[in-house]
Amino acid sequence: MQNNLSSAEVLTESYYDSSDADRFYEQVWGGEDIHIGLYDETDNIPEASRNTVTTMVDSLQGLNEQSRVIDLGAGYGGSARYLAKLAGCNVTCLNISEVQNTRNRELTRQQGLDQKVEVRHGSFEEIPCADASMDIVWSQDSFLHSSQKEKVLSEISRIMAPGGELIFTDPMQADNCPEGVLQPVYDRLNLESMGSFAFYREALNVLGFEETIVNDLTPQLRNHYDYVRQNLQGRYDELVAIISHEYMDNMIKGLENWVAAADKGYLAWGILHFTKSS
Ligand SMILES: C[S@@+](CC[C@H](N)C(=O)[O-])C[C@H]1O[C@@H](n2cnc3c(N)ncnc32)[C@H](O)[C@@H]1O
Repeated sequence: MQNNLSSAEVLTESYYDSSDADRFYEQVWGGEDIHIGLYDETDNIPEASRNTVTTMVDSLQGLNEQSRVIDLGAGYGGSARYLAKLAGCNVTCLNISEVQNTRNRELTRQQGLDQKVEVRHGSFEEIPCADASMDIVWSQDSFLHSSQKEKVLSEISRIMAPGGELIFTDPMQADNCPEGVLQPVYDRLNLESMGSFAFYREALNVLGFEETIVNDLTPQLRNHYDYVRQNLQGRYDELVAIISHEYMDNMIKGLENWVAAADKGYLAWGILHFTKSS
């Protein structure tokens, strides 16, 4: 891992490495998948979170046993294991949190996938992979943490083989979000900025990517954060044995801020799928 981390990278690494965050994401968010779910047919957080993964997989055109796949900001590796099991492909997980990587390696070993899923400690702002070495670049709800999103996209372009696919989700600001209203949203995760559908479309177009599909699923962001808040509040007395009061109180307030911003139309979320020209 490179030594000169940006302040956003340092804050993100220490946030996800903290035992409060690790227990919260493991206990409340879903354990394997810690991203926004699709709630059309369920109100169960892990099930909805898995729905996002299967919907993204359905969009991919070239996934097969030979695919070289990387998951950027892979969390506990739930999606990587799903892809490796489904297609038999090799998946590299890149993640800045070594606490999550340790749990990822353990789950991967328990599921007999250590020959297929490799877990690497590193940042997607400087991806430790050779040029044109990946066929599918996958990422869920991770790019928001970067203060250098153009650099992340340019790294993705560098490691992507011609004809390769980029598929990702990201909590974003709405294209027409007024200036300066998102500070309470940024505060929950120490964010410096958020992308938007318009930002990703334009930046990826400049890098030679073609849009395959951009699926605006913004209402699911509001659903997800509200379900997580309800779950945390409902289990507060049980969880206080393993997660600090301070962390849970801040998280409940932070999630309320995200739901309020979503209700005002300031936020956006969806599945973005692009293909690199040959
Ligand atoms: C909300 S979690 C999503 C995890 C996983 N993608 C999932 O869907 O289950 C965000 C993840 O991004 C990772 N992350 C944030 N900034 C990163 C960076 N610069 N490089 C690599 N990983 C990063 C965090 O460690 C965390 O695992």
